[in-house]
Amino acid sequence: MTANPSIDLSELHARVLAACRELAALTEVPGETTRPYLCPTTRGVHAFLRAWADRLGLSTRIDAVGNLRSRREGPTPDSPTLYLGSHIDTVPNAGAYDGILGVLLAYALAEAVRDQALPYALEVLAFSEEEGVRYGVPFIGSRALTGTAGPLLELRDKDGLTVSDAIRAYGLNPDELPDAEIRSESLGYLEFHIEQGPVLQAAGAGVGVVTAIAGQNRVLLDFTGQAAHAGTTPMTHRRDALAAAARFVVAAEERARATPGLVATVGVMQARPGAINIVPGEVHCTLDIRHERDEVRRDALPLLLADAERFAAERGVTVSITPKMEEAATPMDARFQGLLRQAATDLGLDAPDVLSGAGHDAMIMSTRMPAAMLFLRSPNALSHHPDEMVNPEDVEAALRVGLRFLERLAQEARA
Ligand code: HGY
Ligand code: MN
Ligand code: MN
Repeated sequence: MTANPSIDLSELHARVLAACRELAALTEVPGETTRPYLCPTTRGVHAFLRAWADRLGLSTRIDAVGNLRSRREGPTPDSPTLYLGSHIDTVPNAGAYDGILGVLLAYALAEAVRDQALPYALEVLAFSEEEGVRYGVPFIGSRALTGTAGPLLELRDKDGLTVSDAIRAYGLNPDELPDAEIRSESLGYLEFHIEQGPVLQAAGAGVGVVTAIAGQNRVLLDFTGQAAHAGTTPMTHRRDALAAAARFVVAAEERARATPGLVATVGVMQARPGAINIVPGEVHCTLDIRHERDEVRRDALPLLLADAERFAAERGVTVSITPKMEEAATPMDARFQGLLRQAATDLGLDAPDVLSGAGHDAMIMSTRMPAAMLFLRSPNALSHHPDEMVNPEDVEAALRVGLRFLERLAQEARA
């Protein structure tokens, strides 16, 4: 099976790139790309994708958590489904490719094979929430498909709105959550995504096969001391929450630097009252730690939290620690990895193995079916940043590898 002869893959990949740039303008903050879970500009992304699906004759629905799902049935009602997709939500001031590129490549593949007989059904998934920015917990979209999103519905955002409130505000019904779960036979899940790091660029490779996704913890820490006058409060009489939190940040960096492969990030730091002449009485901050081996990450976390407790106690400050999520390191399916490598080899492309330091919906989908990812090179290794880049030739290569993957999978399914 090759692409529909009338399909010009170089035109198709150019259309994918143009769409990434067009959809990057659908944002809640003018001048940057910021599109949190089920925000109003999500509607424009849904409309764009639904129009593409309609042109391909795919049937499209939005499920209870806002995933847009475009489906091509298989040759028989019991045909297994291959899922392709990624997420459409973004971090604040994001680039133009994280998530959405994988969704658009999935639609492009559906277009490339639209006139080809496939022995399986195809469903493109535009996950509504993967980043975990609005509710502090990622993967609301993919968790709906694996039947594990229920406990998340009552999480509250900074405005006190629950996930259910957000769903209703979008015009959806959280009571229909059970209908979002996958119940029919699945062939597997394939996600295209930018690497977001330096590995493929250093290897001189445009695409890479993800072997595993690093495990991660996300934790909230609230330091509570005593707000006081900056001029009249002697250093010996202070309970400075920010001084304690600042020592914690430096200690986390030092411990991660000293532990090979461990990354630790304090991405949020909010000091209150937040005036130049007041000793900070409260600090809310976050910790994100990751490692490819769970035992290393699980050994490091309690040590980091003990550091926080110690720096707080030294200053008469208390710290409350709220674990928000833990995801174990997730190996990608060996068979699907092999098919991706073979597809790249068939095309004369080098596709080195690469570990994902970033979390992805493939972690969640892998709990229900074989899951795999193909990374595209990040030429400047930047992501979660407006300067995020992708090479057009790598987008075309990914499309060709994806097409060959579908072909090999079809050959195996027919065998
Ligand atoms: O944070 C991450 O790993 C991804 O960008 N969701
Ligand atoms: Mn991201
Ligand atoms: Mn992503």
